[in-house]
Amino acid sequence: MKNEALLEVKNLRTYFHTEAGLVKSVDGVSFRVEKGKTLGIVGESGCGKSITSLSIMQLVETPPGKIEGGEILFEGENLLNKTEDEMREIRGKKIAMIFQEPMTSLNPVYTIGKQITEALLLHEKISKHEAKARALEMLKLVRIPLPEKRFNEYPHQLSGGMRQRVMIAMSLSCNPQLLICDEPTTALDVTIQAQILELINELKEKTGSSVIMITHDLGVISEVADDVMVMYAGKVVEQASTDEIFENPLHPYTVGLMNCIPKLNSDVDTLPTIKGMVPSFDNMPKGCAFCPRCSMAKKICEQKAPELVDVDGRKVRCFRYTKEWKEEA
Ligand SMILES: Nc1ncnc2c1ncn2[C@@H]1O[C@H](COP(=O)(O)OP(=O)(O)OP(=O)(O)O)[C@@H](O)[C@H]1O
Ligand SMILES: [Mg+2]
Repeated sequence: MKNEALLEVKNLRTYFHTEAGLVKSVDGVSFRVEKGKTLGIVGESGCGKSITSLSIMQLVETPPGKIEGGEILFEGENLLNKTEDEMREIRGKKIAMIFQEPMTSLNPVYTIGKQITEALLLHEKISKHEAKARALEMLKLVRIPLPEKRFNEYPHQLSGGMRQRVMIAMSLSCNPQLLICDEPTTALDVTIQAQILELINELKEKTGSSVIMITHDLGVISEVADDVMVMYAGKVVEQASTDEIFENPLHPYTVGLMNCIPKLNSDVDTLPTIKGMVPSFDNMPKGCAFCPRCSMAKKICEQKAPELVDVDGRKVRCFRYTKEWKEEA
């Protein structure tokens, strides 16, 4: 029996109409996020992870971007049918997002305290005094030392790790049901990164909210996610529980990402990467998008684009798991 879904995305398509042609950044993506669970979205740069999350928030820059089709069901209601006013109400209060670089979302000319209290006052019917108390409480919750002092400081007076904590405090201040984290730790060093992930896990336990964690690092996924969706060139290539993915990755791309997980004490200069590059949208291979980089590819992989198929209740977009593969010599 499946648990209750908080978010269900069905066949989402978000395209960019550019001078160079049509960019299918998100091309028929479907997934669900269960209540109180964390979904990890993983893939290399340019695979469509951010555009997927921006589509949920309806923050895709239009034009050139446009949500061309699909459904984004949040608590059973399609967000694509909401007005901009209704979406503004949902953003921040019900769905919050943490971006990769907190300086892009923190305003440099206001103090930390003002920014958190303003966010609270916008969404909650509380007094200024209550908002301040709540903001201080949030800063304590994300373990900012000397919160009363920090309250009156500006973003540039804080370290990168501190700013990310402030962002998390701000995002969580209205108790969102869904928290979308887009590479929240990429700009941070490894120890701070581990602390932030631990913090997100802890807060999730406390509040019971669901999380979407976006990253290019499967190592991060193993720390926080219950389920994983692997994206490649705008499409889902594998979907399974985190345990299943780590026990037995099915897609050759997932296997490649697995080999890229940074090991403790490893030499950073020799960090393994998957050979080759994600194809550009104006030069998409005719068959499987991963084929040019795949060591297992057969003829069929060059000729036809694979569908997402069921393998023991899991989903994978690869011919290896189809009849056609077995038939080819
Ligand atoms: N404003 C835009 N105009 C044209 N194309 C865009 C625009 N924004 C994104 N894209 C294209 O959409 C694709 C997906 O972008 P997206 O930002 O979702 O990638 P990502 O998986 O988040 O990568 P990263 O790990 O680098 O953040 C990219 O190939 C990008 O070129
Ligand atoms: Mg991104």
